[in-house]
Amino acid sequence: MLLLFLFSLLLAQSELVTCQIATVPSTTINSPTQTSSSASFVTNIELSVDDLWDLYVGPISTFSINTTVEPTPIPSSSLIPPPSLFYPNFPTGQQVPLRTKNESWKFPKDFWYGVAGAAYQIEGAVKAEGRGPSIWDVLTHRVTNYVSTNDTGDVADNNYYQYKEDIARIAALGLKTYSFSLSWSRILPFGSGAINELALKHYDDVIDTCLAFNIIPMVTLYHWDLPLSLQNTYGGWLNEQIISDFSTYTRIAFSRWHKKVHYWFTVNEPIVFCNFYPLPESYFKKTSIPEQQQPYVCGHNVLLAHSGAYHIGKSLNSTLSISFKNNGGYKIPLTNSTVDAEAVQRAWDFNEGWFADPIFLTGDYPSSLKPYVEKFLPPFTEEQKAQINGTSDIFAHDAYTASFYMAPDSGIEACLRNQTHELWPGCFNSTNVYANGYWNIGPAGDPGSPWLNQATDWVPAFLHYMQETWNPREGVAITEFGMSEPFEELKTNLASILIDPIRSNYYKAYLEGILIAISEGVSVVGTLAWSIYDNLEWSQGFSVKFGIQYVNLTTQERYFKASAFEYVNMFKTYQEK
Ligand code: BGC
Repeated sequence: MLLLFLFSLLLAQSELVTCQIATVPSTTINSPTQTSSSASFVTNIELSVDDLWDLYVGPISTFSINTTVEPTPIPSSSLIPPPSLFYPNFPTGQQVPLRTKNESWKFPKDFWYGVAGAAYQIEGAVKAEGRGPSIWDVLTHRVTNYVSTNDTGDVADNNYYQYKEDIARIAALGLKTYSFSLSWSRILPFGSGAINELALKHYDDVIDTCLAFNIIPMVTLYHWDLPLSLQNTYGGWLNEQIISDFSTYTRIAFSRWHKKVHYWFTVNEPIVFCNFYPLPESYFKKTSIPEQQQPYVCGHNVLLAHSGAYHIGKSLNSTLSISFKNNGGYKIPLTNSTVDAEAVQRAWDFNEGWFADPIFLTGDYPSSLKPYVEKFLPPFTEEQKAQINGTSDIFAHDAYTASFYMAPDSGIEACLRNQTHELWPGCFNSTNVYANGYWNIGPAGDPGSPWLNQATDWVPAFLHYMQETWNPREGVAITEFGMSEPFEELKTNLASILIDPIRSNYYKAYLEGILIAISEGVSVVGTLAWSIYDNLEWSQGFSVKFGIQYVNLTTQERYFKASAFEYVNMFKTYQEK
């Protein structure tokens, strides 16, 4: 009864609850101790998974297809290549290979190419079969204006039930690999503790279906959907407790699938998810860590959690390929001044280098980042440095674009001395417009992804930079690249949606850049197009489209876009047989 009363009280003020639920202090009930500290007004009530949903997320939507469906045959009409976009016309249906071949280019025989997606962005079925909520369920449902369109991942692409069809379609297209992420809170609804066997069975079948279709499964262990309980109990990535919880979770996954899955990625883009901190106030556990420090505290724990997971995977199966998934665009000095060169280096250090230098080079932070973080982070011990160094087999980079970098107007030194400077502590600036102030670096993506322009001219230089700077053992892979076709969401006619010229040209030009780099000696081992199909683009909802397939969100029917053929045809043309 007391519990019921508390729940109704909490539901009424649900935006303000934290996991340690504010209520009548037990000390007041049991003893007359007095206190004026609000921190004491907490209690630990046992909550079920359903309670978590009810208290923190509220009602969710479901879709009519809510059991696993067998794949339907792919209509042969949908596998006819599109009309040619960039080439001399051929009779319809005979465009392959759609180009004049450059005989000096080739993709090696074992080069893998496929598509990627991530659990919260595609799965839907968020409450099905025991899944616990993640922070993204709260961000989409509860935090006003966090998602510009008010969309949620409740149904998304219904991949949780339609994955067999999705894998069949990938195979029909001729792709080699499918990269997906596991939902941590499906497997461990509270992030730690009891394991949900139904979730393990689900992913068993996703993996087995890939293998049945001759598709190489690639697994990402963490793609931003932190179990809500871990955030609310101790602050998620801001607390070192996450390191051991991540170890436990990753051990479960590696143990279950190491015989079937060769390629693993530990964490997806910590530059991005560590910058989610500080999380919106009032929805999650409060922290006393100052706002500007939070991303770096998160990063510190990520480096230790990632490297711990790497060693667990290798100890179970030393033949696995386990990598860290980093991200960022190529950085070009705006001018050839010394200060712009310095700004470029600072930009590498505060972005890719933040994680890549410890993992690939030294076990420790880059030299321009270190003076800042050592003010508040404990230095890595020699043992920790040794644990971190060398823990990525591939340099797995999500490399969409490039930008120009320059010193702040006031200069780098003045910025470094001024903690209130808007560019502090990085103290570098960037733009997508050339120094002449007139031309953009390349065609822009959708206005909902203002960071993205096609900048494929720089792909060879970027690949050289990755190889020469971080020198990965098993080569470089572009584990996400893609283009948001501008204004695609405004198109209502299916036939118009399916021809996506900006995205098609992006894939063609990008892959040509990779072929050039390979011909110049860079070891590029694979690519994953982002994305398998249009999906929940985080805080942009479904308004920004990255898919090489269109999904009708009302019917959940899938359709190949022209870019899907452009992507595959590059390999049909250039891969060694
Ligand atoms: C992320 C994806 C995201 C894509 C496009 C990548 O940074 O890993 O989750 O949808 O970029 O913004």
